[in-house]
Amino acid sequence: MDNFQFYSPTEFIFGKETEYSCGAYVKKYGGTKVLIHYGGGSAVRSGLIDRVTASLEREEIPYVLLGGVQPNPRDTKVYEGIELCRRENVDFILSVGGGSCIDSAKGIACGVPYEGDFWDFYCGKQVEKALPIGTVLTIAAAGSEGSTGSVITKEEGMLKRDTCSDLLRPRFSILNPALTESLPAYQTACGATDIMAHVLERYFTNTTEVEITDRLCEAVLLTMVKEAPRVIADPHNYQARANIMWAGTIAHNDVVGVGRSQDWNSHGIEHELSGLYDCAHGAGLAVVMPAWMEFVYKHNIMRFAQMATRVWGCEMNFEDPAVTAREGIRAFRRFLASIGMPINFEQLGAKEADIPVLVEKFGLGEEGRTGGFVSLSSEDVAEILHIAAHASADKEIAE
Ligand code: NZQ
Ligand code: ZN
Repeated sequence: MDNFQFYSPTEFIFGKETEYSCGAYVKKYGGTKVLIHYGGGSAVRSGLIDRVTASLEREEIPYVLLGGVQPNPRDTKVYEGIELCRRENVDFILSVGGGSCIDSAKGIACGVPYEGDFWDFYCGKQVEKALPIGTVLTIAAAGSEGSTGSVITKEEGMLKRDTCSDLLRPRFSILNPALTESLPAYQTACGATDIMAHVLERYFTNTTEVEITDRLCEAVLLTMVKEAPRVIADPHNYQARANIMWAGTIAHNDVVGVGRSQDWNSHGIEHELSGLYDCAHGAGLAVVMPAWMEFVYKHNIMRFAQMATRVWGCEMNFEDPAVTAREGIRAFRRFLASIGMPINFEQLGAKEADIPVLVEKFGLGEEGRTGGFVSLSSEDVAEILHIAAHASADKEIAE
């Protein structure tokens, strides 16, 4: 195991009706003028925004509202939020929604105290100051409610880029699983896929002797394998929603990833897909991640065989562990198809002819390589995308 520091100061308030207390938590964390930031309307339709504003009013905390954050949140909304916060002297942002709303709130939070363009932080500059944020989460997926990350799409050129900083971890996050019961099955499945991908990006590591985090990763994956089909069959299964919601948070606040190298190439490649096609991030991952696995599994066959046996229940082929490794990848892809995820370009609405554009946006150039479990060149990324283009649920994995 590698040395690590783990700093995760977010306070989580979990359970039924917890959103009624959001005003008290804003007060606890020093907010005196709040921006309530929300999405395209689901939180208004469900009455959640009314409950949130009532809670702030009970605490006599003034607020302004800014809705309209779209999935794959845009820089234009962040600029609008920065201006509004400055004009209204906002000192706390309360994000009510999913990863897109929270990421947009994080963009605003680092942009308000900064004299330059907030986009600098999404081009490599380190965040030095940010307004505090809190969240009321409505979808278990991105893990932004406990993570350091924020992903924003620059409308000009549809460039999707991220930034990470401990300063962007929410001060508190309210997690009421019942709020996720109104999600359509497709969004629920996209969220489940993202949660599993966050674990798998950490699971495929070059660090040895990481039994504790391996086992924690497997626990989260096994939970998702059990609970995702249950909520898709019965959207009002509160207990299954609860397990998924907490899985989503710990999948990405790094408790399962500390002390080990991590990969993140599937996420990098997927961000180009959702940047170009505006598809759901989880759907893009369902197409990319098994293809990435097919491409890299020979780098560490025993690690893939471990996933196959411990997560997917495959029998270990001791004579030829590569057979087991390939069975695990197939099982993963079959599972994604079974919960309604696209697994190839056609199902996602992507075009194989766009692969050169996707590779160019990924930005490695001719000589460059990524880091991660397996370092990739532009040609490798193109090859992974070609595998993804033609995948099918029962496809044999190439030897
Ligand atoms: O906008 P509304 O009307 O709220 O509708 C949303 C949206 O259409 C809907 N929704 C959310 N909660 C609902 C609901 N509909 C009914 N009932 C509810 N309770 O679901 C749709 C998707 O919402 P979104 O916030 O986009 O989903 P998600 O949480 O998956 O966030 C995706 C974004 O997060 C980024 C992704 O790239 C993508 O841009 N990520 C952020 C990360 C981070 N900050 O750490 C890490 C992730 O890997 C990811 O990249
Ligand atoms: Zn993700």
